[in-house]
Amino acid sequence: MHLAVLLFTSAVSVGTFALDNGLMRTPPMGWLAWERFRCDIDCEHDPKNCISENLFIDMADRLSEDGWRELGYVYVNIDDCWASMDRDEKGRLQPDPKRFPGGIPKLARYMHDRGLKLGIYGDMGTHTCGGYPGTPLDKIKIDAQTFADWEVDMLKFDGCYSNATEQEQGYPLMSNALNATGRPIGYSCSWPAYQGGLPPKVNYTQLGKICNLWRNYGDIEDSWDSVLNIIDWFFENQDTLIPAAGPGRWNDPDMLIIGDFGLSMDQSRAQMAIWAIMAAPLFMSNDLRTISSGARSILQNKMAISINQDPLGIQGRRIIKEKSGIDVYWRPLSKDDSALVFFSRRNDMPYRYQTSLKKLNYTTGSYKIFDVFTEKTMTLKDSTDFVVSVNPTGVVMWYVSAPAKLSLRQLYKGGKLQGFAYDDDENNIPPVFL
Ligand SMILES: *[C@@H]1O[C@H](CO)[C@@H](O)[C@H](O)[C@H]1NC(C)=O
Ligand SMILES: *[C@@H]1O[C@H](CO)[C@@H](O)[C@H](O)[C@H]1NC(C)=O
Ligand SMILES: *[C@@H]1O[C@H](CO)[C@@H](O)[C@H](O)[C@H]1NC(C)=O
Ligand SMILES: *[C@@H]1O[C@H](CO)[C@@H](O)[C@H](O)[C@H]1NC(C)=O
Repeated sequence: MHLAVLLFTSAVSVGTFALDNGLMRTPPMGWLAWERFRCDIDCEHDPKNCISENLFIDMADRLSEDGWRELGYVYVNIDDCWASMDRDEKGRLQPDPKRFPGGIPKLARYMHDRGLKLGIYGDMGTHTCGGYPGTPLDKIKIDAQTFADWEVDMLKFDGCYSNATEQEQGYPLMSNALNATGRPIGYSCSWPAYQGGLPPKVNYTQLGKICNLWRNYGDIEDSWDSVLNIIDWFFENQDTLIPAAGPGRWNDPDMLIIGDFGLSMDQSRAQMAIWAIMAAPLFMSNDLRTISSGARSILQNKMAISINQDPLGIQGRRIIKEKSGIDVYWRPLSKDDSALVFFSRRNDMPYRYQTSLKKLNYTTGSYKIFDVFTEKTMTLKDSTDFVVSVNPTGVVMWYVSAPAKLSLRQLYKGGKLQGFAYDDDENNIPPVFL
């Protein structure tokens, strides 16, 4: 596939610039408190949901006992509103003692004992967005050292209450300060989101050298409108953003809100599919104690996760935007495989979209298709017209295996590869797949 080859070469040339801490060679996965639990600090009236060590312990228990950790969801990330309003007598950040009585090191140990990792939140500026103590330039070293002493595994570094000049100094300084602690700490930079997400204000080459992931755009909210708005921004700017991503350096369209209140099951599959195409970090922000089995099965879909985690780390692109409201997204994967998403912006009824792999620029051959959400498989020649039925605000997602390079006809004779033959007359595939 020539598209794959072109993108691969450009990704490799930028690839030498990844932050050299050895972390996040595939997009990080886990859980992050913000979208679902925000700045709820009212433990007196809302003990189950307030930002406290109990919330993170509950989520760690769910991740390790409900099959999440084995799939790669290993980060448990604290967001804003964890800190005490005052630094300690040595000038260090400290957690709110009422809500985190065991302290952060104990919480980190709790995660590590279960094969999980702990993430924490800071802010390049005088205050965090929620008004807690920030990390201005003169506090960067001490805060990096504090996080390392606590054995934290990841830092999300927000950007409220600082200007462009301070951010230009602060984000690289924090990268160096984290490195100087000697502890590998994943580094998530909100910097580009504060500078409009695009060049010339944002230098993605530089970001790839200093951060493992970065928020390019505004915060996600619990609604389809918000998901769609984020998708549109990322794919309208895909030519800028795709080369920025690669192993160790990821664009971050923000959290998965699957399992919350705002998305239907179709919309949830759509978010999972597009985040996989984007090679996005997969941080769920939901309540794993009460999540529905439907939302859980979407988030635990092994094929979607394996597409997201493909080792080549090439971010996918939108290849078609039809007037009918159907978009097609494509991501090249290792071993010449690829992923396709047919996405509907329509609001009426399932739409029957007709195309062929050839029209999507696949080279001549017979491809094995695995439908990610229905788990059906089929074989499809590049030239065969097919129809996919795409639900309103939903997706059909395919994992596409490249034609094998061997003489399949021969293997087929041996009876080993039924349904994966090159013979013309084997291509009697029904034109409609649901
Ligand atoms: C710090 O940076 C150096 C040079 O880039 C790298 O070799 C090393 O692994 C880094 N250490 C940590 C803890 O990130
Ligand atoms: C940014 O903030 C610093 C510290 O408050 C100030 O000295 C500097 O003038 C500001 N720069 C701009 C461009 O606003
Ligand atoms: C962007 O950053 C890179 C690496 O730090 C640097 O070499 C390059 O000159 C920067 N580009 C611009 C336009 O500032
Ligand atoms: C297929 O390739 C042609 C020629 O490079 C290009 O014009 C067209 O946009 C591509 N179509 C898709 C769906 O990528």
